Amino acid sequence: MTAAVIVVGSVNVDLVAAGGRMPRPGETVSMARFAEAQGGKGGNQASAAAALGARTYLVGAVGSDHWGAAARADLAARGVEVSGLATVDGATGVAIILVDDDGENSIAIVPGANSAVTPVVVASALDAIDEPQAIVVACLEVPLDAVEEAARVAARRGWGFVLNPAPAPLGALPASLLAAASVITPNETELESLGGVAALLAAGAGAVVVTRGGEGAELHRAGAAPQHIAPIPADVVDTTGAGDAFTAALAVGLAEGRALPDAVSWAAVAGAIATEGFGARGSLPTSAQVQARLRS
Ligand code: RIB
Ligand code: NA
Repeated sequence: MTAAVIVVGSVNVDLVAAGGRMPRPGETVSMARFAEAQGGKGGNQASAAAALGARTYLVGAVGSDHWGAAARADLAARGVEVSGLATVDGATGVAIILVDDDGENSIAIVPGANSAVTPVVVASALDAIDEPQAIVVACLEVPLDAVEEAARVAARRGWGFVLNPAPAPLGALPASLLAAASVITPNETELESLGGVAALLAAGAGAVVVTRGGEGAELHRAGAAPQHIAPIPADVVDTTGAGDAFTAALAVGLAEGRALPDAVSWAAVAGAIATEGFGARGSLPTSAQVQARLRS
């Protein structure tokens, strides 16, 4: 049976300026190119999971503008089940992204329709999904109460729950949410704002997988020695969306029944490949491509 992944998260249109250096506050810089691309952590995660072959659902919201329609069409074309993606009056989420010559990014988002992802929207979309086994993935670009509802429904249905605490929350997350997470996947900044690995494990998270970009990843579990996952060499073009591909691949790995360390290694390869294309969805690997890179 194909693995099932249910993403509860954001959809944005990404307006990207790339090639050059980041402006300092008050400074204007000229960059080499502009692109409009599909984005949003939820949409990216769903796209990555679908590319890896999982049966993938996206629960979220787009606006009634042309960007919403384009986002929905792109996701559907990638094989994502979008019947749980609401269309609400108003603007689709927007991300203004700067990518420098090293492929590093800075992002400012205006949530728009993502703010309309309420607990009721999440509950009714999840109720309509008929999967005995699945992994739910949620990020923090939709309101926290919606993420908490996703965690509650996952627990009730016996689904795994992967929390991608991105972007970094302003304060501590509710202990009940952390305790509901089978795995939490922060990057270094997010980990810092969450108070560190020990705090997350003490709150009851099943595992913490820290992504450290070019330095690889770390797997932490209560009562076990941390494991370091070596970085995967990549020809970095644009790191935007690499964390999303990582989290999605981890969820797919778990949904396929892989052991956690194995799923993390698999995810590290998917994240590395995702940096090799422009835009958040420019080079999302298939599972055969991940497998081939893992062996090389
Ligand atoms: O993680 C990358 C994503 O963050 C971008 O696609 C952008 O939309 C922001 O949500
Ligand atoms: Na990319």
